[in-house]
Amino acid sequence: MVPLLEMRGIVRTFGAVRANDGIDLDVAAGRIVGLLGENGSGKSTLMKLLFGMLPPDSGTIIFKGRELSGHRPAEAMLAGLAMIHQHFMLIEAMSVVDNVMLGWPAAGKLLRRAAVANQIRGASARFGLDLDPDAKVANLPLGRRQRVEILKAILRGADLLILDEPTSNLAPAEVAGLLTILRRLREEGRGIVFITHKLPEVLDVCDEVVVLRAGRVAGRAPVAGVSRAALAEMMVGRDTTHAHSPDPRPPGAVRLAVRGLRGPGLAGVEFDLHAGEILGVAGVDGNGQIELADTLAGLRRGEGSIVLNGQEIARASVAARMQAGLAYLPADRAQTSLVRAMTIAENFGLRDHAGFLLHPAARTAHAKELMTAYDVRAPGPQTVAARLSGGNAQKIVVGRELDRAPSVVIAHQAAWGLDPGATRFVLDRVVDLRNRGAAVLYISSELEEVLAIGDRVAVLSGGRFAGILSRDKIDLGQIGLWMAGQA
Ligand SMILES: Nc1ncnc2c1ncn2[C@@H]1O[C@H](COP(=O)(O)OP(=O)(O)O)[C@@H](O)[C@H]1O
Ligand SMILES: [Mg+2]
Repeated sequence: MVPLLEMRGIVRTFGAVRANDGIDLDVAAGRIVGLLGENGSGKSTLMKLLFGMLPPDSGTIIFKGRELSGHRPAEAMLAGLAMIHQHFMLIEAMSVVDNVMLGWPAAGKLLRRAAVANQIRGASARFGLDLDPDAKVANLPLGRRQRVEILKAILRGADLLILDEPTSNLAPAEVAGLLTILRRLREEGRGIVFITHKLPEVLDVCDEVVVLRAGRVAGRAPVAGVSRAALAEMMVGRDTTHAHSPDPRPPGAVRLAVRGLRGPGLAGVEFDLHAGEILGVAGVDGNGQIELADTLAGLRRGEGSIVLNGQEIARASVAARMQAGLAYLPADRAQTSLVRAMTIAENFGLRDHAGFLLHPAARTAHAKELMTAYDVRAPGPQTVAARLSGGNAQKIVVGRELDRAPSVVIAHQAAWGLDPGATRFVLDRVVDLRNRGAAVLYISSELEEVLAIGDRVAVLSGGRFAGILSRDKIDLGQIGLWMAGQA
């Protein structure tokens, strides 16, 4: 088989994170290679290195027999690579043909607009793209815009197409159309790297699959003969032993009962959350995580019922929910939870409904206690929040929310962006709270975290819980299948 692409020993770090930790990847002409892996496993980084958007720390890239090194995307394109981005790079106000001609050196000089339009009609028919050259991009649905990007790659003669999660925003019919287009590209002898989280798509269209986990190749296999369960297990791995696992104990009374929760991004979430329990919510980002967290906290409205400590709160305000015992650690705490212009002491005081801390001296004293308890490293309570590192800022939000001894906590990506020490600290605080009887919904796309602290683990997929397993019945293969959209 003709080696179109050979990547060898690719390493790329971002600070302490080894995003790519010695990856080898081969793509032959006329083959579709599926690149599979959880969020953060290093897929996009590997493709950015290939396309010249980032330089690798080390490793070699041989494309069509020539080494690519120190290249930029423009050179990668000239060499015959094309990248179809998750977010399209099209000018909406322009037509399909004008977008195709944009930034294409050959067009405009050698090819006239009418000739390009003719080529578009030809390629559109040949590949089943169904694109009208004169259509304005703004009027095209998402799936068609993606095809404009593919069309650009085809007309420029790309030998290898990189598609980074091309199906994540497509309707099922559009996905089927895209897979058909990929098969036709393969028939012409072009190579394709197809990144996705979805196992059925891999099994449907790919010739082989490479699974990344934590920046390394966790497995590779021809698709013929590989089982879904085997792929799912390669994706999630087996290493789930963590120090901060909660002790088993019988669940207490129901603190939060959710039924038929629907709305944009939510398709009928249902669960009971008990006192003294952490329900971990795993899943690939974009399956309703933000919507679920915000709807429970009252920042968005949904249909359905949310009963907190026996009281229906689905239509209650955020403040009323907080008063009723709910605490919320949102993912975008920097924007919503912390006032950057205020001091640490003032930020700690934000939820002080009782008002007894309004006395400045009392507030400062209390802030000092919380800084110690929550390990906030800063000169003092009068330090402005804007000066704090991400980890210390998060500890303030965690400290403020958890110090109120809430009965129910909704946490979304509570350890996002924190270093391992700070992550451990936040997880330990969440477990402490649970041990003191709080009910915790812990939503995270980091499966390891969810497995480490969940008494039960639910998987959010397509806006609902695909299933819930208790800690003693964890089956990684099953969780992987649910995460990949396989009920
Ligand atoms: N520009 C960046 N700066 C810092 N960290 C990054 C950057 N890009 C990626 N990372 C980190 O590298 C790791 C791999 O990310 P990525 O390649 O985007 O994974 P995937 O595409 O598989 O979800 C993650 O831990 C991510 O946070
Ligand atoms: Mg990615």
